[in-house]
Amino acid sequence: MSSSSSSVLVTGGAGYIGSHTVIELLNDNQSVVVIDNLINASYEAIRRIERITGKKVTFYKVNLLDKKALLEVFQRHSIGSVIHFGGLKAVGESSRIPLDYYDINMTGTIHLLQVMQTMDVKQFVFSSSATVYGDPPLIPIPETSPLASTNPYGRTKQFVESIIQDICNVNNSNWSAALLRYFNPAGAHPSGLLGENPLGVPNNLMPYLSQVAIGKRASLSIYGKDYPTKDGTAIRDYINVVDLAKGHLAALKKLGDSKNPTGCVAYNLGTGHGSTVLEMVQAFSNAVGRPLAYEIVDRRPGDVANLTADPTKAKTELNWEATIQLDETCASLWHWQSKNPNGLEDCPGDAPPESIICYI
Ligand SMILES: NC(=O)c1ccc[n+]([C@@H]2O[C@H](COP(=O)([O-])OP(=O)(O)OC[C@H]3O[C@@H](n4cnc5c(N)ncnc54)[C@H](O)[C@@H]3O)[C@@H](O)[C@H]2O)c1
Repeated sequence: MSSSSSSVLVTGGAGYIGSHTVIELLNDNQSVVVIDNLINASYEAIRRIERITGKKVTFYKVNLLDKKALLEVFQRHSIGSVIHFGGLKAVGESSRIPLDYYDINMTGTIHLLQVMQTMDVKQFVFSSSATVYGDPPLIPIPETSPLASTNPYGRTKQFVESIIQDICNVNNSNWSAALLRYFNPAGAHPSGLLGENPLGVPNNLMPYLSQVAIGKRASLSIYGKDYPTKDGTAIRDYINVVDLAKGHLAALKKLGDSKNPTGCVAYNLGTGHGSTVLEMVQAFSNAVGRPLAYEIVDRRPGDVANLTADPTKAKTELNWEATIQLDETCASLWHWQSKNPNGLEDCPGDAPPESIICYI
């Protein structure tokens, strides 16, 4: 666990899951330093974190590919541990621009790990994904399931997991790392001030559906109704983003110090309950109070029938489990979307808040 005098560096901390995690860290009185290049986020997320927590956020606009800038952040602050969210995350896009995904998600992470090594920081929490399981042989999926990503995005996560494992395996390296395999993050902060803020067409079901509800998109396309599930649509394990954020705090606290390193451990962060796409459409329609338009189209290549977590290991070892029910998740998403129909946008000419240092 990071000592009280050192800070937790959060990469991608202005993004969806990162911003919710920064709130939980600040609420836990941790000292936090955020970096993000804002390619999929805005300064406004930092202002909202400050509004919600009543605390100032130290923020640097830094690209993970800029190793010199990364090093300077580590030299300016006493960093004790790192939670690494920064990167690109769209499965479909990763097949169109794979090199960008390998560059940012892998080269960016290697830079970060190299700087950590240089600065003797060896506690690491990594955003992995259930995508690493590919089409798993067993549901619910245990962490021991074979890793078999089916797309470039998933492979970047799988490869980075191996890199972290290799670093931890070096004799006396003293690294402690948690690989957190998220299932399907959904919902928003209960304040209605923060939520998912997709730039462009949303890639995931829930943000897309909420844009249908707000009138930005005409209808949801449901990819395939011939899966071997109860209603023929694909099953996913939707986990509330606040529960997920708390999972990071639990993982951080479990990491060993340099005298008692834990090595590299993978955890599923999911609820253990799967829902079909049609069940999610119904649940979100209930939150909105009216039916939402959808159409059934062909299956999407690479999609699998069922990704549901076995979350037992996180419960046993991290003392963490998801507690927020699906109806509350849907209500929080609608609260956020209806209060912020255009997500978070920086007003033109907006000066960054005082706490923000524009590094690049
Ligand atoms: N949301 C999901 O469904 C999901 C599921 C599994 C895993 N993950 C992983 O969790 C992490 C966070 O996801 P999210 O949903 O919050 O995404 P997000 O896009 O909201 O957050 C990622 C953040 O990283 C920043 N970023 C991107 N490239 C960067 C770079 N080169 N340098 C610095 N910052 C950079 C973006 O601006 C963004 O704020 C990602 O690593 C993602 O792959 C997400």
